[in-house]
Amino acid sequence: MKKEDIMNIRKEFPYLDEEKVGKKIVYFDNGATSQKPKCVIDALANYYSYQTANPHRGAHYLGMLSTELYEGARDTVRDFINAKSSKEIIFVRNTTEALNLVAYSYGLDKLKAGDEIILSIYEHHSNLVTWQFVAEKTGAVLRYVYLTDDNEFDMNQYKELLNEKTKLVAVAGASNTVGGIIDVKEVTRLAHEVGAVVSCDCAQLIPHVKVDVQDWDVDFLSFSGHKMYAPMGIGVLYGKKEILDSMVPYMYGGDMIEYVYEQSTTFAPVPAKFEAGTQNVGGAVALAEAIRFMQRVGIENIHKHELDLTEYAYNKMSELDFVEIYSTKNYNRSPLVDFNIKDIHSHDVSTVLDTFDIAIRTGHHCAMPLHSYIHQNSTCRVSFAVYNTYEEVDFFIDKLKEVRKVMGYGS
Ligand code: ALA
Repeated sequence: MKKEDIMNIRKEFPYLDEEKVGKKIVYFDNGATSQKPKCVIDALANYYSYQTANPHRGAHYLGMLSTELYEGARDTVRDFINAKSSKEIIFVRNTTEALNLVAYSYGLDKLKAGDEIILSIYEHHSNLVTWQFVAEKTGAVLRYVYLTDDNEFDMNQYKELLNEKTKLVAVAGASNTVGGIIDVKEVTRLAHEVGAVVSCDCAQLIPHVKVDVQDWDVDFLSFSGHKMYAPMGIGVLYGKKEILDSMVPYMYGGDMIEYVYEQSTTFAPVPAKFEAGTQNVGGAVALAEAIRFMQRVGIENIHKHELDLTEYAYNKMSELDFVEIYSTKNYNRSPLVDFNIKDIHSHDVSTVLDTFDIAIRTGHHCAMPLHSYIHQNSTCRVSFAVYNTYEEVDFFIDKLKEVRKVMGYGS
């Protein structure tokens, strides 16, 4: 994309408006959450201003409008990830809830002692602690895929781990820390060869890459709206219909039942079976608007710009002898660079950068086993979105040098 295109995109994001905000913010914490464009904020405000009613319940105009909007958003998501049916789209709060749904309703019910679950060492805690819980309850065993020399998912080791006891492969499509992107289609094909089901955490992949659940043949896929320009509190679990049909509900209550008797209940078909209680219609409507925003810009354009920007930042950072980088050097990665500055704690780096209005993330990034594996307690991460610029990266690189000076280390 041309510079002018990026500058026009920036105008759609209130927080990037220097005049209104009163300062120039360099927001490099997009892996944690993205800023929201005005069209998404307006869609949410419009829903709450003029379209609010409880969906699937009221036989009145607003109730029906709300139902239409909610189900329309489901169709938009189906189309976005190329699912076969909208019944395969379950709205949840976020990726964490989606992954817990898979763990509770599929894992606890279907796994048994001795079954094996394959994870990667870079999993976010939401796709790791969940499976520790399932393993503890069922007697299933966790097996880990470790990393190549370039800190990427080791496909060869994965192949060696797969066997007839493997019943579930739970991996992130892209790491939130080391940045590698896996070939979800190939990981799934290999898992299916041994009869295992694949659950892909796509939180860090879907903001950047075209997802196609039918082409990938993945069994479950989870993501959050808030990392892809939508509000917090709305996310999606995709599941193949035949698998979802075979699963027990996750939460019980209103709108997920068929008939309720004194001693028993029959349940609504999917997706309602997994959407107990009043749904987040405003969030779903705004998520659909965020999808339209991404489609308008073009997902390939978003990805290309982010990849080029990441490459630029990676190369500039590599030139600094006081920077240690842990994320992959592979061009095809999630748009982030994970690093430390020699002799300086990551939180100090972040605090000093914040004085220059540069926002980065520091800590273990909810990936403690990965940090143990790379022998770091904590790291710094810059992560990019479509609105970030080369000038922002240059400014960040300049200020990174200042961090050294502020902390008393010369240049
Ligand atoms: N999971 C989010 C991150 O990586 C919060 O920052």
